[in-house]
Amino acid sequence: MSELLDLTALPHDFLWGTATSAYQIEGAVAEDGRSPSIWDTFSHTPGKIAGDDHGDVACDHYHRWREDIGLMKRLGTNAYRLSIAWPRVMPGGDGPVNAKGLAFYDELIDGLLEAGITPSVTLYHWDLPQALQDRGGWPVRDTAEHFAAYASVTADRLGDRAHHWTTLNEPLCSAWIGHIEGVMAPGLTDLTAAVRASYHLLLGHGLATQAIRAAAPSAEVGIVNNLSTVHAATDRPEDLAAARRVDGHTNRWWLDPIHGRGFPADMREVYGVELPEHPGDLETIAAPLDWLGLNYYFPVTVTDAPTAPAPHAHTVRRPDVPRTGMDWEIDPTGIETLLLRLTDEYGARKLYVTENGSSYPDVIRPDGTVDDPERQKYLIQHLAACASAARKGAPLAGYFAWSLLDNFEWAYGYGKRFGLVHVDYRTQARTIKGTGHRYAEIIRGHRDRARHAA
Ligand code: IFM
Repeated sequence: MSELLDLTALPHDFLWGTATSAYQIEGAVAEDGRSPSIWDTFSHTPGKIAGDDHGDVACDHYHRWREDIGLMKRLGTNAYRLSIAWPRVMPGGDGPVNAKGLAFYDELIDGLLEAGITPSVTLYHWDLPQALQDRGGWPVRDTAEHFAAYASVTADRLGDRAHHWTTLNEPLCSAWIGHIEGVMAPGLTDLTAAVRASYHLLLGHGLATQAIRAAAPSAEVGIVNNLSTVHAATDRPEDLAAARRVDGHTNRWWLDPIHGRGFPADMREVYGVELPEHPGDLETIAAPLDWLGLNYYFPVTVTDAPTAPAPHAHTVRRPDVPRTGMDWEIDPTGIETLLLRLTDEYGARKLYVTENGSSYPDVIRPDGTVDDPERQKYLIQHLAACASAARKGAPLAGYFAWSLLDNFEWAYGYGKRFGLVHVDYRTQARTIKGTGHRYAEIIRGHRDRARHAA
């Protein structure tokens, strides 16, 4: 299939990366001064996670990071998207900095640079220090201020070598899944708390953007949103209106404010929750960015559901469409549509696909290999769609496969495997899957063509 992959529209200096996040891979949750995060609390609450799994050990990356950089080199990637655990750096959420926590990331960044791999640093991938949750969490304004202080300390220490910074990963999940649906930490089902959390997450993003720029003037700062294409199940006006609301909830609520358009009026009405606005906040939230990150996995098809919680819609399970092991619908055209939407509707000047990938129930074969043809197909189809978006004008500068390693898939625990590298959680043995080898070939091919063209 990859013979058909035409990547000539991608720039020669394209970032070919993999992505992970701290709580999903690091383990070592009580080492070197790290304090509990809301995910430690949530995952240790019986019944919240499949199999009662938790991140206490995860992929033991805290101790095995050198081996993991070795895997990146074998894949031939030239970029790596990691997240910093706030509870390692500032265990109380604010106040004293934990030198050992910062030292871990300092060494990791140096290790990546020595290996010729560009670090892309995310400050918040959902692991809020529990101490701040105990003081109200994201529904409280102070949390945004503390986030900026943590961003400042971290950028000050790492920003001389790490130039690529993300404030928030998928704030939608923190706000909506964590505060409306209750299936992610902190596990609330409270619309008012959710809307306030969404506001303070974006305020925190704006304040952190300023803090990063002040501490590391060469930083390129962006935000990562998980967006979906949204389709109405039928042409009924009610379903079309539901699709518009779901688009507002999933996409516009997160994109409009950071582009200086404020929070969408239609959605403010749908939520009916007063925003905790202070003068000047909207300008802070709309701090100019260097790039936008898109995490894309699946499209959604919806129908009107007036009695369901906001945004009053149900997702419809379309029959006879291909799905991944997450039961997520596969539609590569969605990634192209969204890259073009960010370009045309929001005027993006630089874009990264900061996550894209698929989970399947992989097994190690008797010969020690992992064959995962469905994941290979998913990867190739989505890369082809990215290249198509680039041909049509999307300023795509990099692609980060989710994920480098199989890891702790939040409420699904370890049962769902997204890695290009298989992890045996009993032995911590790593095995590059077929898709990992295919990704390496694709990267080599693109690099060779770029070299010849130069
Ligand atoms: O594992 C997650 C990641 O933490 C955030 N984006 C989606 C991935 C797959 O569900």
